[in-house]
Amino acid sequence: MDDSPVLCLKKVEVSFPRSGNKSLEVLRGVDFQTWPGKTLGLVGESGSGKTMTALSIMGLIPYPGSIHGSIQYQGRELVGLGESEYEKIRGEGISIVFQDPSTALNPVFNIEQQLVETILTHKRISPEKAGISALNALKQVEIPGPEKRIKDYPHQLSGGMKQRVLIAMALVCEPDMLILDEPTTALDVTVQAQILDLIERIQSFNNMSIILISHDIGIVSEISDEVAIMYAGRIVEKGPTNNILAKPKHPYTAGLLKSIPKLGVNKQKLDAIDGFPPNPSDFPSGCPFHPRCPNVKERCKKEDPPDFHDNTHFYACWNKVE
Ligand SMILES: Nc1ncnc2c1ncn2[C@@H]1O[C@H](COP(=O)(O)OP(=O)(O)OP(=O)(O)O)[C@@H](O)[C@H]1O
Ligand SMILES: [Mg+2]
Repeated sequence: MDDSPVLCLKKVEVSFPRSGNKSLEVLRGVDFQTWPGKTLGLVGESGSGKTMTALSIMGLIPYPGSIHGSIQYQGRELVGLGESEYEKIRGEGISIVFQDPSTALNPVFNIEQQLVETILTHKRISPEKAGISALNALKQVEIPGPEKRIKDYPHQLSGGMKQRVLIAMALVCEPDMLILDEPTTALDVTVQAQILDLIERIQSFNNMSIILISHDIGIVSEISDEVAIMYAGRIVEKGPTNNILAKPKHPYTAGLLKSIPKLGVNKQKLDAIDGFPPNPSDFPSGCPFHPRCPNVKERCKKEDPPDFHDNTHFYACWNKVE
């Protein structure tokens, strides 16, 4: 087995300047690694920094944001890399399916034109060969009747089919790192399951490393080898999926797990976590989860916890779930 990571993030911080002297700290030290053939699930409520983490990896932090820390891709530092070098890595090395599928496809070009253009941007091959690769990509994402569908325009596709096309678009240049930002949120439950199955099947063929972003820990845990939980711009717990599910250590993770709908249980009766996630302009002192935490102690209000390690599992909490 290849035991070097595909991506290695260390202390990644992203901030935006604000009027006054205090900047907005959106990511506050994100650390994780990804591995060939493995899926890391990145979970958290809205605003926790999931998309910003993905944008950091892609070198696409919106202006005037700035990034500190280290993001290595196959041992090569990406933070500070020039735009033309980054352009080569995007698509060929690391690919992303963005959160909002409605804006990701251009309404005036058909699927074939968009796939071919993506291929030709990254590969020096003839348009004919690119056409063949485009069709193969549609086959890979199991679109029925691909020879016909390739001539469709985005508005002719259902939500699930559009998502498959976007995944095909991300795969055409054979990246070894694929980031999927909420790939199933807009889809109904059956189509969600089909897309997750598809992602797993593709990965089993090409040994790609995947980051699967979702606010839904239930969905993520179905196909992830490891789960990382984000809260207020930081990963507060990470470990092998089975450990996280069976023995969460952070009270926030325990709360998220309680809110997974179970068959036969009325949705209204689920124990959701009280309160709302904090805004970066107004993070509480100490542990940012403390105002919502059932295990809160005096220390939690004053000091942000460090990462505590327990073999492959880590958690940032002074008073873990026992
Ligand atoms: N261009 C920007 N300038 C300043 N702050 C931003 C900008 N873009 C995002 N943010 C802030 O960064 C924080 C993290 O946002 P991000 O989009 O990463 O959250 P998320 O976890 O992906 O949420 P969601 O589940 O809603 O997609 C939020 O507080 C957001 O308001
Ligand atoms: Mg997001």
